[in-house]
Amino acid sequence: MSAPHPLTPEQVTAFYDAHRTVRLYRTQPDGSPLPLPEAHLEAILHAAQRAPTDATAQLYSLIRLTRPEVRAQAAALTNNAHLATASEAFVVCADVRRTARVLELSGRAAGHWPAVAVHFGLGDAVMAGTNLLTAAELLGYQGCWIGGVLNGLDGLLDLLKLPPGVLPFAALTLGLPAEAPPQRPRVPRPLVIHTDEYRDATPEQLQEAVAVMNPIAARGDKPGDWARLLGAYFGVGGGMEGREPHLVAALKRQGLWAGGEEEGTRRPAQPEPTGENAG
Ligand SMILES: Cc1cc2nc3c(=O)[nH]c(=O)nc-3n(C[C@H](O)[C@H](O)[C@H](O)COP(=O)(O)O)c2cc1C
Repeated sequence: MSAPHPLTPEQVTAFYDAHRTVRLYRTQPDGSPLPLPEAHLEAILHAAQRAPTDATAQLYSLIRLTRPEVRAQAAALTNNAHLATASEAFVVCADVRRTARVLELSGRAAGHWPAVAVHFGLGDAVMAGTNLLTAAELLGYQGCWIGGVLNGLDGLLDLLKLPPGVLPFAALTLGLPAEAPPQRPRVPRPLVIHTDEYRDATPEQLQEAVAVMNPIAARGDKPGDWARLLGAYFGVGGGMEGREPHLVAALKRQGLWAGGEEEGTRRPAQPEPTGENAG
């Protein structure tokens, strides 16, 4: 059976063209979150649960953040203030604990597969979160994924009381936009869509991609430099190197580390990028 009312290709393209990451939301006059109508909340949670899932397991959990003090602490731990003010805020987690408990309850021992847990747990979590955000966008909201959870992972495990087998992937906020950002660019399609076999981009194609992407790094009237931004995240001494030991520690703490005891412990202490695009 196909979709009840198939959209035209133009309508689908227009819908995805309207996507914007939004970090400033409309609030109540006192600055507290504007609640979603119950039917809207129900529809987006339903969408999250309709996501396909590996091996039928649904290896994810979403922690819905409602209490102002929990929202505020999550905002501080992740350096993303909109976690406190968005209409809805979630922490999207891989979760293999529930599956292990079902096995236990039925008298079966859970196997040892920490790498597979991370692989399919994060996959399931992303699919549920993406369904949720897309449903919200269909209802007229916008949102923001927050990879900044890696800035305060240990604190977040404590705050949300996440047991072994559960690992945050990212947070997700959504609400009615109180800002109108421009559409942000993407690299030219041949760099990400390959046909039949992987093809490395040529240096010219990479240069073209950088030129296309530069506006995403512009701040005010300062022109953007995407390669510089990528360097701040992924370069030597960049934010991702700073996050690496914290993620390894969290994987170990949650029983999801598949490497040896000594691996992954190098500790480059570097500042992490914050603010717009801090993700
Ligand atoms: C996994 C993930 C993590 C992200 N983390 C953050 C973040 O911590 N803070 C933030 O402001 N934006 C974050 N973003 C939003 C990206 O910066 C944004 O999607 C990107 O710049 C493209 O913009 P667009 O979504 O408006 O097209 C994240 C996005 C993703 C998918």
